Amino acid sequence: MKKAIIVYESVYGNTKKIAEAISVGINGVEGVECVIKKTGEIHTDNLCDYDAILFGCPNHNQEPALNLVRFIDRAAIVHLKAKIGAAFDTYTGGNKDVAVVKLEKRILEKLPGISIEGRLSAKVTGRKGPLAEDEESKAQEFGNEFGQRILE
Ligand SMILES: Cc1cc2nc3c(=O)[nH]c(=O)nc-3n(C[C@H](O)[C@H](O)[C@H](O)COP(=O)(O)O)c2cc1C
Repeated sequence: MKKAIIVYESVYGNTKKIAEAISVGINGVEGVECVIKKTGEIHTDNLCDYDAILFGCPNHNQEPALNLVRFIDRAAIVHLKAKIGAAFDTYTGGNKDVAVVKLEKRILEKLPGISIEGRLSAKVTGRKGPLAEDEESKAQEFGNEFGQRILE
């Protein structure tokens, strides 16, 4: 059984919902199991148990949320087994992909053994949400496709 983990940050719960939808998609792939942890719920040392790591957070002032960036920075000293990863963000207005691209850059810089094989940017309809229509179903589909890549 391959193991995946989603580490996320979320203030109002929208990014958490996206993380949950992605995990439903991943868990739909036979041979892969996925858990979800908020940044404060897991120590970076525990990341070494996983075959794939996904990171997700809201866009805060055109940047990935600081708690997740700090988590990734702390993970730099951990010997990771994971070779593949993915990144996602949530955003409002016209900021699709803005934070997730920076998040990917940070991951590649700090965790160079991981190649990023999936990117998702999910729209929220206002600062507190809710998520725009279809974003959760797209996230589930994204998780399903990524889950299949873990097995490759
Ligand atoms: C302090 C702060 C700054 C934000 N700045 C941006 C921004 O620059 N661009 C953007 O698209 N959304 C911005 N947002 C909206 C967030 O992306 C939105 O609150 C988030 O996606 C909701 O996710 P969450 O429920 O997981 O916290 C900001 C939100 C906060 C709280």
